[in-house]
Amino acid sequence: MQDILKELEDRRAEARLGGGQRRIDSQHKKGKLTARERLDVLLDEGSFEEYDMYKTHRCTDFGMADNQISGDGVVTGWGTINGRPTYVFSQDFTVFGGSLSETHAEKICKIMDLAVQNGVPVIGLNDSGGARIQEGVASLGGYAEVFYRNVQASGVVPQISVIMGPCAGGAVYSPAMTDYIFMVKDTSYMFVTGPDVVKTVTNEVVTAEELGGASTHTKKSSVADGAFENDLVALLEIRRLFDFLPLSNEAEIPVLKTNDPADRIEMSLDTIVPENPNQPYDMHEVIRKIADEGDFFEIQKDYAGNILCGYIRLNGSTVGVVANQPMVLAGCLDIDSAKKAGRFVRYCNAFNIPILTLVDVPGFLPGTVQEYGGIIKHGAKLLFAYAEATVPKVTVIVRKAYGGAYDVMSSKHIRSDVNYAWPTAEIAVMGAKGATEILYREELGDPEKIAARTKEYEDQFANPFIAAQRGFIDEVIQPHSTRRRVGRAFDLLKTKKVPTISKKNDNIPL
Ligand code: HXC
Repeated sequence: MQDILKELEDRRAEARLGGGQRRIDSQHKKGKLTARERLDVLLDEGSFEEYDMYKTHRCTDFGMADNQISGDGVVTGWGTINGRPTYVFSQDFTVFGGSLSETHAEKICKIMDLAVQNGVPVIGLNDSGGARIQEGVASLGGYAEVFYRNVQASGVVPQISVIMGPCAGGAVYSPAMTDYIFMVKDTSYMFVTGPDVVKTVTNEVVTAEELGGASTHTKKSSVADGAFENDLVALLEIRRLFDFLPLSNEAEIPVLKTNDPADRIEMSLDTIVPENPNQPYDMHEVIRKIADEGDFFEIQKDYAGNILCGYIRLNGSTVGVVANQPMVLAGCLDIDSAKKAGRFVRYCNAFNIPILTLVDVPGFLPGTVQEYGGIIKHGAKLLFAYAEATVPKVTVIVRKAYGGAYDVMSSKHIRSDVNYAWPTAEIAVMGAKGATEILYREELGDPEKIAARTKEYEDQFANPFIAAQRGFIDEVIQPHSTRRRVGRAFDLLKTKKVPTISKKNDNIPL
């Protein structure tokens, strides 16, 4: 019996060594943790249950029959994060560069199937050279099996990808179909084809960092939702994000006990909006002052800074926040911000996360760049997303709400449930100057007359009361009581029910 027990421990020890000490050392030298060390950080201590530790590939070509490593380059199973379960896979770069074989894919598919069946999220730690070159089409088939499951699981359980090494080819398409992608600065890359192939095909000379590093994907392409300094910080931040998310589309919103009073008054909000309507202020501050304990987990913080998206808690419950940011492009909506926020709103709706919208938007960004880029179609994404969202929606107009952007930003007309405005709100078809120049074109030569007309328009519209008279605004609230008012609104909306029309899928303007 002792021998049998020892054999089990020997087999486990061998599997835990992955591609061997030399390759583990090399991983450490690059500043990266190993696949198992990463799971130790991500999951609660002692909670990891591993599956398929002894699985090996079935490839016999290129001398692979004699090159078997237990686990075949991916560690799979489940564990808990602050007591709540998640399935995980962690690719082991020390084993064939974390490349995906048919059996490696089978291991990932197994936990994905269980995740959907049991209503539990999937977190993938990706560190992979893509399709296992020695296997050919068997590996491609394995990828497609994973892709298919990504789509089936979408909107059913949260899927989070962390890119923790070079990810090429197929290794980037599975993350692309998950809900969130986070990267590690300086050690992770994502590209469909690497710099060498790029040079051969297009003659372009580009470094891996420029082509697919964290900076490229968080600032330019928006493929990634955030980037962190190193493996450790990234994994701890994923734990933080996980705490905000429900386990599935049928699970309750997580509630975290808080000592922050629901009726906390925040007097500084009464003076945060500057006297001069053209002067910006930081919308982050408004969000943090409303949130429980000032905690805000921001999504895509380095991309389309004119709109802010992320999670806060009110009275302990998760709320998704979408807010115009007057510090960037004066808070205008443009192609990038509409795409960013549209996707965020759809995610919240899929997982029953209520949405708080804070509005300070002078309109859509004008110009040929936007029109040629398809602002009509892309701007419609956000409008579409808000209009189809049936989760509780509360809107606060902080300052400007002009033109089509007023309609888009979760207005009453597209079925926001509760719409508040601060006394500083300005709600009109357009800004006073633009409006006067159109209405009184013949008086343009007379600056005094135009100034008087502009003042008249401002007096008429630069306030929330006309909208309130029509019931488009439910109440004009004191800024200092926003946290209490919004929290109470969401509490009452917890039992919201909306009948849905039967359809196969809608046709959001992609
Ligand atoms: C098998 C691989 C591998 C792969 C790396 N290795 N990629 N083995 N299949 N795809 C092995 C290497 O042979 C090496 O083995 C070990 O992993 C580490 O690789 P290195 O090259 O030494 O590491 P590094 O210098 O850090 O470079 C990492 C890398 C590079 C950038 C990922 O290895 C690379 O470019 N690999 C190929 C990427 C690629 O083109 N993949 C196929 C994409 S096509 P030893 O034994 O020396 O440790 C694809 C199709 C799917 O994925 C499409 C579906 C839509």
